[in-house]
Amino acid sequence: MFHNKIESQPSEDALLGGFLPDPPAGAGPDAEAYLEDDRDLVWHHLTRHEGALFPLMVKGEGLRLWDVNGKEYLDATSGGVWCVNLGYGRKEIVEAAAAQLLRLPYYVGSAGNLPSVDLARALLKHAPGLSRVYFSSSGSEANEKAFKMIRLVSYLKKDSRSKILYRDRDYHGTTLGALSSCGQKERSLGFGPFVPGFEEVPAVYCYRCSFKKSYPDCDLECARAVEEVILRTGPETVGGAVFETVTAGGGILVPPPEYWPEVQSVLKKYDVALILDEVVTGLGRTGAMFAYDHYGIQPDLLTLAKGVASAYLPISLTLATEKIFQDLQSGSGVLGYFRDISTFGGSAAAAAAAYANLKIIERDNLVERVKAMGEVLIGSLSEFLKHPNVGDVRGVGLLAGVEFVSSKDARSPLPEELVVKVAVEMAKLGVLVGRTNRSVPGGNNIINFAPAYFVTEEDVSRICQAFGEALKRVLG
Ligand SMILES: Cc1ncc(COP(=O)(O)O)c(C=O)c1O
Repeated sequence: MFHNKIESQPSEDALLGGFLPDPPAGAGPDAEAYLEDDRDLVWHHLTRHEGALFPLMVKGEGLRLWDVNGKEYLDATSGGVWCVNLGYGRKEIVEAAAAQLLRLPYYVGSAGNLPSVDLARALLKHAPGLSRVYFSSSGSEANEKAFKMIRLVSYLKKDSRSKILYRDRDYHGTTLGALSSCGQKERSLGFGPFVPGFEEVPAVYCYRCSFKKSYPDCDLECARAVEEVILRTGPETVGGAVFETVTAGGGILVPPPEYWPEVQSVLKKYDVALILDEVVTGLGRTGAMFAYDHYGIQPDLLTLAKGVASAYLPISLTLATEKIFQDLQSGSGVLGYFRDISTFGGSAAAAAAAYANLKIIERDNLVERVKAMGEVLIGSLSEFLKHPNVGDVRGVGLLAGVEFVSSKDARSPLPEELVVKVAVEMAKLGVLVGRTNRSVPGGNNIINFAPAYFVTEEDVSRICQAFGEALKRVLG
């Protein structure tokens, strides 16, 4: 159990509670009008609008959220999509951003700003081997920058290594380049034609191995398949490989310890640059500052977004080795530098929020805390393996998934409607969880848990109680 000197909750003083209006005490006429206009005027992400009202959130504090009707939730998703890693109402982040907004909100181009330097200095200390930070404003964009860097290096070297490998079940964003590297076919369905030059390698998914093998007797066939794809594609044409270190939205797939060293050695053999997408896992989520720290490997490019400023302001980063940076300075004229810009990559306030976020993670030993509380969370969820429809419980740090099946023997995925019902029942019980959503055809059967880093043992009990009750209501 988690009993050590790490502060278990931010002090009252660290939260903004007192500054915020109380949540509305019930559905007055105003709440009703907001709910209706939200349904009728706002186009929700990833959603078929079928006339139902959506919840409208109005206030957050720590891990608690309140909707416009005054209903309280425990948020086990960190803002729906694993972003608000330090919880809601974090005064230090807000004050850092507010002070910077007053001093200088923004400037981009050849001039820089102080918080970006502070952030780059502090962040690079955690990422030996990487030495440059490129700023933009979304995870998709951070990955697009990485793809463009790989392609421009190849163009400058005139070596035709513009192809990029990606992995089944990984997701790298919503833009067309990122969707061209999408291993979640429900996400990319219908948006083609796609950008050429992306090649898929098999998922690392021990519960449903594409090679019908079992770890550890499998000889890591999924890792060795990377070499086969390189050979089939033509090693002289492959310049990069983009992977999620731990697949998040594709089902919380944590590679076994030997996977990454094996993949890294194959990529090195063919001189293929490794782009690690840690948009979800970066900055502590898995109980290490970066998920790749668990494996002792070294990326050439690293992309970060969601937790960089705990989503208090939008910011994303592409970190690069000095070699890639220098390769991109090697041309002449317009080819003598990386001709790319991100308008909102110049947000000094977002950089200030991110710097404050990182300083809190360091000061409060949050990476250690995530590791310890992750064991509590995953240990508690593992109790549900007794249920006939719970096929697998897996995860690392505060990133956990429960995979539902109709039959344990056949491992047949439980129909998505039933998985949705479990999540809906949990929301009725006041606990918000995520799920594989419009990701993998026939494979949206995983509920995921990614609470903020300050989650307590009581919170974990409440999450598990609601989960157990929802399971009973939906599946018996
Ligand atoms: C692993 C991963 N990479 C990239 C992205 C894209 O980030 P964004 O939605 O900020 O563009 C996501 C978003 O969910 C993600 O999960």
